[in-house]
Amino acid sequence: MRRVVCPGSFDPVTNGHLDIISRASRLYDEVVVAVLINITKKSLFTVEERMEMLREVTAEYGNVRVDRFHGLLVDFCETNGISAVVKGLRAVSDFDYEMQMAQMNYSMAKVETMFMTTNPLYSFLSSSLIREVAKYGGDVSGLVPEQVIGKLRARVAES
Ligand code: PNS
Repeated sequence: MRRVVCPGSFDPVTNGHLDIISRASRLYDEVVVAVLINITKKSLFTVEERMEMLREVTAEYGNVRVDRFHGLLVDFCETNGISAVVKGLRAVSDFDYEMQMAQMNYSMAKVETMFMTTNPLYSFLSSSLIREVAKYGGDVSGLVPEQVIGKLRARVAES
């Protein structure tokens, strides 16, 4: 089985993430969307909330499952029989760090990285910008899945 992991923080999932996940689901037998558990980083949504949103927005894809991991991504890959990572590249500015991680993952465990060019509609998008725009009441429709909009509004209103 050709299984690939799409790792990230997904705080929250954006339409850019979803575009990469859906395209990967057409290329691989199974796509595992893996949410990084990072206790040192303050997040807007808990890992459980992020996983729930990801499950909702990927429900239409029969070969996508959502999981979580901590520690090294290559260890998660080994435990789950995954030999490749899929990542979206938005711009040249993403490239340096992504290439370092890809080479490190290959060097550590021969885990391959497949880069997909982001849909230009979403090339400026990041979860951190979405959080900032939402915090000040900006309109994020069309940038995150419908199911996420209400949850974002509610969360920023609480904080
Ligand atoms: O959405 P993000 O925060 O940009 O995702 C970054 C992520 C989770 C893909 C990256 O930080 C990662 O793989 N972290 C796991 C720790 C790890 O394996 N580090 C070594 C990578 S070379």
